[in-house]
Amino acid sequence: MAVGKLISLNMEETKKDILILAIESSCDETAASVCRNGREILSNTIYSQIDVHTLYGGVVPEIASRAHIEKIIPVIDTALAEAKVGLKDLDAIAVTYGPGLVGPLLVGVSAAKALCLATGLPLIGVHHIEGHISANYIENPDLEPPFAALVVSGGHSHLVVVKDYGEYEVIGRTRDDAAGEAFDKVARAIGLGYPGGPKIDKAAKEGNPHALEFPRAKVGESVYDFSFSGLKSAVLNYLNTCEMKGEKWVQADVAASFQKAVVDVLVDHSMSAIDQYGFKKFAIAGGVASNSALRAAMKEACEKKGVAFYHPSPILCTDNAAMIGCAGYYEFIRGERSSLDLNAIPNLKLGERA
Ligand code: KG4
Ligand code: ZN
Repeated sequence: MAVGKLISLNMEETKKDILILAIESSCDETAASVCRNGREILSNTIYSQIDVHTLYGGVVPEIASRAHIEKIIPVIDTALAEAKVGLKDLDAIAVTYGPGLVGPLLVGVSAAKALCLATGLPLIGVHHIEGHISANYIENPDLEPPFAALVVSGGHSHLVVVKDYGEYEVIGRTRDDAAGEAFDKVARAIGLGYPGGPKIDKAAKEGNPHALEFPRAKVGESVYDFSFSGLKSAVLNYLNTCEMKGEKWVQADVAASFQKAVVDVLVDHSMSAIDQYGFKKFAIAGGVASNSALRAAMKEACEKKGVAFYHPSPILCTDNAAMIGCAGYYEFIRGERSSLDLNAIPNLKLGERA
């Protein structure tokens, strides 16, 4: 009888849910989330600073840091309240510690460290890009590594081989502007304002993607690397030339043709990687992964090859803490812990650990 009880207690222990509070503040979203066993999101609180930065046409790091300081505690409180859990129910606290803007990162890292110090909970530093990739696990219970992933956001354009949880090989990256950066800069040039990606996405729906032929950049001998600054310059040159000739340009056509040039390159590189590595699963992630034309083109290209295509919902593509909680969970069960002297690392490489 006693033995039976002991065994059932042990089983209870191994079945215990793991609750993680995750914090994200690497750019202009102050976010916190509580997740259960990695893939079940109990809350996903996001305070977007977009309205503040729109006044300046882009993210102002100092203003972002101050806004994070104001919002970090209320956002964490809201995430805990929505999940109906207290700090005492948690198993760990995960936080983005790089890459990103140093001031904004420091706010999240300091908050997480203070909470860990006060509660004795373990701290888990998470790589922001690993978070973006992990967003795919949340709504796709069948997705497991290995697979290929394209991470396209405001700060990054990476083609990644996800070998296992926490094991990555970057096979392609941008040589200059990130895809989202190109969207933001072109949007500004054609009078759409900030943030550019969603606005170009919307304007492009009314335009002709074949109206203008913008270049699809090839980057030397590296098959998978990207370059978007040439494309951005081509758009700016086109606008200048029109102005000099006194000719009108059509905003929706420029948006649609630019977007098509970006999408073509992203699809082309991704499909080459799938062919070369023989992947049967492919995922997209990051803010630009919510682009409707990119999603449609990737879906079609993957279907043609019989490759399963994964993408997060738009709210999990842009910065959020649920993706950090998911990535943090896999670190937690691998036994990885960060020490309380964890620092923000603005240029942290994928696969590196502090
Ligand atoms: O992942 P994210 O929220 O932040 C970074 O880690 O950088 O990505 C933000 C970027 C911005 O450049 C924004 O313009 C772009 O993602 N973005 C989009 C769309 N939604 C957001 N780009 C194209 N189409 C969209 N629908
Ligand atoms: Zn991001």
